[in-house]
Amino acid sequence: ADTVDIIMVRHGESEWNLKNLFCGWFDAELSEAGLKEAQSAGDYLKGSPYKFDIAYTSMLKRAQNTLANILEGSGQTNVPIIKTWRLNERHYGALTGLNKVETVEKYGADQVAIWRRSFDTPPPEMPEDHPYYDSIRNNPALKEDGPTPEEFPKTESLKLTIERTLPFWNSVVVPKLKEKARILIVAHGNSLRGIVKHLDNISDEDITNLNLPTGIPFLYTLDANLKPVVSMKFLGDPDVVAAAIEKVANQTKKK
Ligand code: 3PG
Repeated sequence: ADTVDIIMVRHGESEWNLKNLFCGWFDAELSEAGLKEAQSAGDYLKGSPYKFDIAYTSMLKRAQNTLANILEGSGQTNVPIIKTWRLNERHYGALTGLNKVETVEKYGADQVAIWRRSFDTPPPEMPEDHPYYDSIRNNPALKEDGPTPEEFPKTESLKLTIERTLPFWNSVVVPKLKEKARILIVAHGNSLRGIVKHLDNISDEDITNLNLPTGIPFLYTLDANLKPVVSMKFLGDPDVVAAAIEKVANQTKKK
């Protein structure tokens, strides 16, 4: 058939997901559970027909370590890896490091829902005296191929995130897809929401309902015009997938 498959995965649970903190460009580690998610994704793919010619990931270690564990678990450690800041998570601005439930208590559920899931309302900018400004702005991982000083964000809406992810998608991934390369992308909840929005042409309103679970691969099958014939088919137990998506949505609700 004249189609091409691409597999995408949100990184496994991070230490900051576990503590329910807005993370964005902070370079959080995977939690123990997140590492296990990555390893089980690798096991799943090992037993699947999916083999990869190339893998793309962000400049953040939670995605890079998820990718490394997936490739190792599926016996494909020789797959070339391309890292780009353009796949980084959306920058959460001044919310970075804040607890999600406490942020709801302070600003209300509606405002936090807008900051988390709206298309074009960014969180407040991260000021230069913010506790995490230095570790993010001076992250060595962003020194070589990071954003230029002008491109370095202080906050990002999904719209702004898509605007810096799409140039990479169109100039690097699309040509490979057209060559029928077998691609794996390991990125982040919101940078992947941007790619999904683009592929499925999801409206600015409908994208607010999309939450992506950590560590569960999903498949797109694209036709010759890169239009999806299969959209976001999660590769795993449907009940596990549904529970994981619910968990992300409920991160702002009191336990
Ligand atoms: C973060 O950046 O905090 C998470 O990776 C995504 O958080 P969200 O699901 O609240 O957008």
